Amino acid sequence: MDKICRVTVCTGTACFVMGGAEILALEDRLPQDLRGRVILEGMACLGLCKDRKGGHPPFVRIDGEILAEATLDRVLARLEARLGGETLA
Ligand code: FES
Repeated sequence: MDKICRVTVCTGTACFVMGGAEILALEDRLPQDLRGRVILEGMACLGLCKDRKGGHPPFVRIDGEILAEATLDRVLARLEARLGGETLA
């Protein structure tokens, strides 16, 4: 059975306006071999924007791992590393 990743995109105000909204389009950018293997969800403020030690918004959680300053490309690269997807451009 193929491994599945859960991607939680913070949709709180700080993350949303700093790029989180773009990350919500993740499913449209998934390479074919990762489709159906990613559970995408939004969640109100993860509470990380108040503690600058963890980096800057937008924040994304991938199976419990926090990715700060997340971009769509960085999330895709992390998924590729975790799920062994095809090479992403
Ligand atoms: S708005 Fe994203 S962690 Fe607070």
